[in-house]
Amino acid sequence: MTPTSTDSGLIVHARLATIGGQGYGLLEDAAIAWQDGQIRWLGPEDQMPDACRHLRARALDANGALVTPGLIDAHTHLVFAGNRAEEFEQRLEGTSYEAIAQSGGGIMGTVRATRAADEEDLLAAALPRARALAADGVTTLEIKSGYALSLDGEAKILRVARRIGKLIGIDVRTTLLALHALPPEYQGRRSEYVDDVCTRWLPSLHAQGLVDGVDAFCEGIGFSVQEVRRLFVAAKQLGLPVKLHADQLSNLHGAALAAEFNALSADHLECTDDAGIAAMAAAGTTAMLLPGSYYTLRETRLPPVAALRDAKVRMAVATDFNPGTSPLLSLRLAMNMACTLFKLTPQEALLAVTSHAAHALGLQDRGQLAPGMRADLVLWRAHTPAELSYWIGGVQPEATFCGGVRLS
Ligand code: NIG
Ligand code: FE
Repeated sequence: MTPTSTDSGLIVHARLATIGGQGYGLLEDAAIAWQDGQIRWLGPEDQMPDACRHLRARALDANGALVTPGLIDAHTHLVFAGNRAEEFEQRLEGTSYEAIAQSGGGIMGTVRATRAADEEDLLAAALPRARALAADGVTTLEIKSGYALSLDGEAKILRVARRIGKLIGIDVRTTLLALHALPPEYQGRRSEYVDDVCTRWLPSLHAQGLVDGVDAFCEGIGFSVQEVRRLFVAAKQLGLPVKLHADQLSNLHGAALAAEFNALSADHLECTDDAGIAAMAAAGTTAMLLPGSYYTLRETRLPPVAALRDAKVRMAVATDFNPGTSPLLSLRLAMNMACTLFKLTPQEALLAVTSHAAHALGLQDRGQLAPGMRADLVLWRAHTPAELSYWIGGVQPEATFCGGVRLS
């Protein structure tokens, strides 16, 4: 590899929040070097090995500023057409999210718009959203389907998701969320829908290389525990990891169901009880906290953060970016909300969007700064790690690298 390679580089005079070891894992007056897209060395600058010195010629001088792992937004519904600003107004006039869904709006409103859009329209709508997240330090982005609810339509969304990653240079992980709402063609035939998703859609989309994981909306207005169980059995047979929208609006014991299938994460959790937490702790399932939808729905039940912390369940935070309940395009703002609304510490919030978020996607090669990890890193216009949760807007990356390649 030559010194001019695009996926090698060096940052000097940095404050590294490695997220390894205790807490932030801070290293002062440090340098970090990467080659072939992988971190090779980091440590006190005066101990830099000779093998890294050839990178000096084009080293970035951080001037004491903070470097963190690239942020990971591990729960989004980024690809859809239209928006739901009208529903936002309706909710503020007193109509509930569930009532809007039951009258044919909500998710189904976005499904109608998304079905009518072709692949290029969807891509054009989604790209600026992904760019906004990347501009805020995101280098790994999970994107769910779930707004087309037909085999071809879900494939269209997942293809767009993959294209976004290639076009922007970030790593996109895709999740099939066909059990999001019952499509109108299947009215009165719920069981057949679940069967079709399990026996036809999932194997076909998986064979097309479009599915990294499987999710479902386990809720009174979504799918029952029994229906989700069938999906999870089918996913496991294909060797695919599962995760679940669990216990958001009511306690259907979704967290325990997720844990039973060793889910990577159980997400939302506003109504999760102690048994659900114990099951997650035993299974190693990550708690995915989504303050954006809590805030937007003006929810009053808090996820059981103190109990999750006591049970040593890993907590991740994501934007849940979607047109209905979380039109939030800043993972840093989600960190701020997780601290302010859910009482995470800034340290927990940074872990929640780095190493714990990596865990929630089943990825071991990122989320920390260490030799051998992907060179996904952000140089911030900030000095202390708590600033990333503290500032509401304003703090931006000075430079972002994904797989060692500079994005900004
Ligand atoms: O995570 N609950 C299901 N999915 C989304 C909302 C989707 C929508 O309202 O369009 C969520 O909150
Ligand atoms: Fe969601």
